[in-house]
Amino acid sequence: MKIQRFSRIGFIMAAAGSAVGLGNIWKFPYMTGEYGGGAFVLVYLITIAFIGFSVMVAEMLIGALGRLDTVSSFEELAPPDKKQWKYAGFMGFNGIIIMTFYSVVIGWIFYYLFRLLNGLPSTTDKAKDIFNTLVGNEPGIQIFWHTVAVLIVGYIVYKGIKGGIEKINLILMPSLMAILFGLLFYAFTLDGFEKAFEFMFAPKWEKLNSEAIVRAVGHSFFTLSLGMGAILTYAASLPKNANITQTALIVTFMDTLIALVAGLVIFSFLFQFGAEPGQGPGLVFISLPTILKNFGTLGIFFALMFFLALAFAGITSAISLVEPVVQYLIDRFDYTRTKAVVVTSFIYWIVGIGALLSYTKEWGEMFSIGKKPLFDILEYTTDSILLPLGGLLIAIFVGYILHKDRVRAALEHEMGDRVFHIWRFSIRYIAPVALIFMMLNLMGIIKI
Ligand code: TRP
Repeated sequence: MKIQRFSRIGFIMAAAGSAVGLGNIWKFPYMTGEYGGGAFVLVYLITIAFIGFSVMVAEMLIGALGRLDTVSSFEELAPPDKKQWKYAGFMGFNGIIIMTFYSVVIGWIFYYLFRLLNGLPSTTDKAKDIFNTLVGNEPGIQIFWHTVAVLIVGYIVYKGIKGGIEKINLILMPSLMAILFGLLFYAFTLDGFEKAFEFMFAPKWEKLNSEAIVRAVGHSFFTLSLGMGAILTYAASLPKNANITQTALIVTFMDTLIALVAGLVIFSFLFQFGAEPGQGPGLVFISLPTILKNFGTLGIFFALMFFLALAFAGITSAISLVEPVVQYLIDRFDYTRTKAVVVTSFIYWIVGIGALLSYTKEWGEMFSIGKKPLFDILEYTTDSILLPLGGLLIAIFVGYILHKDRVRAALEHEMGDRVFHIWRFSIRYIAPVALIFMMLNLMGIIKI
């Protein structure tokens, strides 16, 4: 049973801290670069507004009404003859799978922060070399930083909702925003800014293929931390009488704003010196450091600030990926918090080592299935199958299983009658259809 409650601002920061993550600062810019900019951004914004926001309200509602861990909340809220819905709560375990590679990437960021103190690479080749050597040839260094990430995240979760999660988010989230807005101000002064703005907001429809659409929809779920019980678990500690609709709106807005700001900053820097936007996952690890080199000492400062923001974003998201399972083990198995954190951390730490080894030259084959490295398998399974599945279960549960009167009683006074009906339509029809369609597409079963 849970007694701790977030403060209002604490909850907003924690939920925004979960949402704002590597997805915003690392993934969103490189995806925008790969899929040609404006039109991709537009699809992403539309999905956030019409589907992401609705599902966020639904997920928060389950937590706020259930007030327990993911499994127990579903079980508690399901009608007597539908108690098998508790199995939907196992979506929380997906967080541990995501953490296997998420903490490896946080480890890379730590390594970069440390490495940057020695200066920036002067050419793209050198930058590529640093990144590829780390990922391909230096498992020991990676394991070290991955372990640091696991320990930091574990420690915060161990300190609990109030003393750990709320506290750290109240510090890191404002710091993260200050850094990013500071960088944005500087970016304003660059010639590259105008180009960056155009690249991100002028839709080039010819670049918008079906793959780009599906990826934009998928990303809008990932970036809002939906479909895994993270928001649900936090909402179980929501202060009494909190306004769910308003909170979801603020969190969605902050997440989107930060993704757009991060994109503008990165592309302004890149375009300033004529670099290409379509660099893939190496964008912030390879292109950005080289470009910042052109700014001299100031460049090192920018790079440090940027990777610091990335580290903050990663840590606050990671704790939300771990907390659901920890809460579950405490609620259902009477684990102490310490034991729950140790057990969960140990599992994703070990599998995470397998994931990072799967990218190395020496161990790659051993940790691959067929030609697919374990890292990619873990990422694909969560991103393309488990998260959309979780989102679908949440939408169906709130749209069809929870009694309408109960949902109405909780939300109508916040939204008003009209918006409530639109929201409910989105949860019952638009979100499930979009999610099923996306899953089938990502799994390669149908192609648009
Ligand atoms: N939203 C985070 C990001 O953008 C990642 C994340 C944290 C997440 N918790 C989640 C994704 C829960 C899905 C579900 O990086």
